[in-house]
This record gives sequence, structure tokens and C-alpha cells, in this order.
Amino acid sequence: MALIKTRLELKDLAEGGRILWRILNTVADAAKPGISTHELDLLARSEMKKAKVQPAFEGYQISPDIPKYPAVLCSSVDHEVVHGIPHKDKILKEGQIIGLDLGIVHRGLYTDAAVTVAVGQTSSENENLIDTTREALEAGIAMVKPGNRIGDVAHAIQSAAKAAGFSVIRDLIGHGVGHELHEKPDVPNYGRPGTLEILREGMVIAIEPMFTRGDWRIKFKEDGWTVVTADGSPSAHFEKTVAVTATGHEVLTK
Ligand code: MF3
Ligand code: CO
Repeated sequence: MALIKTRLELKDLAEGGRILWRILNTVADAAKPGISTHELDLLARSEMKKAKVQPAFEGYQISPDIPKYPAVLCSSVDHEVVHGIPHKDKILKEGQIIGLDLGIVHRGLYTDAAVTVAVGQTSSENENLIDTTREALEAGIAMVKPGNRIGDVAHAIQSAAKAAGFSVIRDLIGHGVGHELHEKPDVPNYGRPGTLEILREGMVIAIEPMFTRGDWRIKFKEDGWTVVTADGSPSAHFEKTVAVTATGHEVLTK
């Protein structure tokens, strides 16, 4: 069952969410042709240090046979869906699209957010993919209120992908967040209305649609982390941390 946060925890989560959103946008503004993804990671690190918050991703372990996550930022270029590891030799080029995902810990509480941006000018197809994924996240968030279900959120996201002719990456999902980076409940990006967990006041979830212009199937790179589309199509990812309030919701990463 999903955890219910106290009033005080929600206040600290909102404070952390605002800090995270500011840092994420600072990193996104720096994602220009010629910069390396490692430099973006360094920027995120220094901003976190200045704000006196801790990274949530560095040292994270998904399974015992894969090395701990070595950076504070996930930077996923073009057909990379999520969890791209920053590298010194990965230099951004005009026309690419990059997903930037950051998590922080503030007063012991986790928040998680992501955006996708174009590096310089990109194609209208990529612009459309980015816009649709951002709008799908907003459509999902609009369904967050007490009494609605996770399936209502998931269905709104899926419908936005379908209407635009994009595919939902089915094997990766959003999650509860707060005391840990990943908590109950699961928040899938496709599903039927009226199904899955009932939303209740005080729940906090990270909603994170990932869409692609091609087929939904994914594979992992040899580094054990980087998720790519199996057919090489570009993909976009947006994520916000959202609290369920008495009457609706409050976006914490804003
Ligand atoms: N935001 C990512 C997620 O919710 C977290 C990346 S995994 C990490 O899956 F190892 F980088 F932390
Ligand atoms: Co997440």
C-alpha cells in the first residue's frame, strides 16, 4: 500500500521539489552544442552542493550484478530512453534531443524530475515528440485527485500518445517517492480507467511518461544501465513529483 506523507513531510518535499526543479532547469539551459554530458553532471553536482541537497541517483543499485550508478544526472540522447550515464567524450550536437533526469534528497526526503530538450534546433518530428510527451504528463497530472485511480492517470497518458501516433515505452514506469527513490505504488504509462490503486490525500508519486516515434520495445546497453529503443527511434521523457491533496494535487517539482 502507498505511503501517506504527513503535513510536515509534504512541506519538506515541496521545498526539495522546488530546489530540484531549479537545478534541473539550470542543467537543461546548459545543454547546448559542444558541451559534454559529463560537464552537465558536474554542473548538477555543483548546484546540489550550493543548495545543500544530496544526489539521489549516485550509488544507486538496481541489481547486484550491475555496478552502482556512477553519476548524479541521467542524460539520455536521441534513441536512449532513460538512465544514460554521463561521459566526457559524449559531446552534444545540434539537432539531438536529450532527456535529463535528476533526483535529490532534501531533509531526508526524495524528489524526482526529468525533462527532454532539443540541442539547438531539432526536427519538427522531434519537437512534436517532445511536446506530446510533456503534454501527456500534464494530462496524467490532471487526473490526480483523491478517489481517482492510478489507471485513470495511466490511461490519460496512453491516450495522448495514441492521439499523436507515438508509442508508450511499456516496460518502464513511474513510482511512489519520498522516503525512498522508488516506493509503492507503480505508476504505469498505459492502462484502463478505474483500475489499480486508489489515490488518497498525502500520497506522493513520480509520474514519468516515456514515448518514442517508433516501436515501444527496449533493450539495455552493455553498461547495464542505458535503456535504448530496440529499433533506434528517438524517445522523450518527462517526469514530475506530485502530491495528492484534499481536493486535487500539487506539483512539487515546479
Ligand atoms: N528517475 C529514475 C527512475 O525513476 C532514477 C534513475 S535510476 C538511478 O527510474 F540509478 F539513476 F538512480
Ligand atoms: Co523516477
